[in-house]
Amino acid sequence: MNKIVTVVAPVNIAVIKYWGKRDEELILPINDSVSATLDTSVMCAKTSVTARPEFTEDEIWLNGKKESFFNKRLQNCLREIKLRASDEKSVDENFLSWKVHVCSENNFPTAAGLASSAAGYACLVSALAKLYKLKSDVSSIARLGSGSACRSVYGGFVRWHAGEKPDGSDSVASQVADSSHWPDMHALILVVGEAKKKTSSTKGMNISWQTSELLKYRAQHIVPQRTEEICKAIKEKNFAKFAEITMKDSNQFHAVCLDSYPPFVYLTSVSHMIIDLIHSYNDICGEMKVAYTFDAGPNACLYLLEKDVPAVVSVIKHIFPSSSHAFIKGLESETVTIDAALISKLAIEPQAKDLIKYVIHTKVGEGPTEVVDGSHLLNQDGLPNNLVCL
Ligand code: PMV
Repeated sequence: MNKIVTVVAPVNIAVIKYWGKRDEELILPINDSVSATLDTSVMCAKTSVTARPEFTEDEIWLNGKKESFFNKRLQNCLREIKLRASDEKSVDENFLSWKVHVCSENNFPTAAGLASSAAGYACLVSALAKLYKLKSDVSSIARLGSGSACRSVYGGFVRWHAGEKPDGSDSVASQVADSSHWPDMHALILVVGEAKKKTSSTKGMNISWQTSELLKYRAQHIVPQRTEEICKAIKEKNFAKFAEITMKDSNQFHAVCLDSYPPFVYLTSVSHMIIDLIHSYNDICGEMKVAYTFDAGPNACLYLLEKDVPAVVSVIKHIFPSSSHAFIKGLESETVTIDAALISKLAIEPQAKDLIKYVIHTKVGEGPTEVVDGSHLLNQDGLPNNLVCL
């Protein structure tokens, strides 16, 4: 049996942030979080897996480079998948003893705060789950790779329940609404920098958990109510409420980073200009048009409705001019002539060129899907092809 399974999996960007673990090994969070899953036709991880009797060791290739399989998180994911398969008796015992080959690629910058590990682990776990024919929810296995990865196992809007049990069995993701519920919810990712982040999310969460009182207050007194409110806003498609909570939660997460000791900072002066621009634009429009959110990096994710994309893209291009012809990537977006009166009222003046490297236009999309066109990243011998994702 030489079966190769290939899956593409999405990125997700949180609107209620996960920050802080109650269990480091099992990756159990101190609070619930909520995210939107983004369209895999624009940004995705792609992973091929196969298991063979002739393989002598588990091997993995990431973005064209062989990496060590002796990575605790990777090992935990593979072990859990095999345990589950054994419990479910989904494949025969022989198959479980064979070693695996994994080849994975992202079509966007890794470790720049662009949720690459979320897509990567969701993809790996979903591909292995298909190879081992698992029937049950695999979000708790993806969680062992990277916490936020458990939310990329579903499409649409997703909630990760922190859970209470010490073994983590209730720390799983579930769908708040599927991708067809609010199809005009779009996102613009403003790429400010692609450099690897200085403080990894693991390190940052540890420092915050040990030193930030704001983090504990947030988890106990703020996030529970916000989570309920944003899930309601999503169900009712109430953009104004969704946007307000999203921005407040991003700001509070970055306040926690500053409240940590020693503090660490992910936002740059350009990130702050984007924040000022969005508030000013919403004020001038007299209604909530756009929401920003920032993960552990300087890049902004703007959530907005499809009808507002042309005007917002035009404002961004005006304030952050670019020398690139391919400034807007991903989904098509028209530009419109913006009202001079609006421009004159904005709190931010046009800046020097290329402060924003490029913008990715995308929308809410579906969860991991199996690739059935045969475009595997592994060849028939189970070794990497030089295929590039998308
Ligand atoms: O799953 P990790 O370890 O990459 O942590 C993700 C943390 C944030 O992106 C900042 C927040 C979130 O909920 O995705």
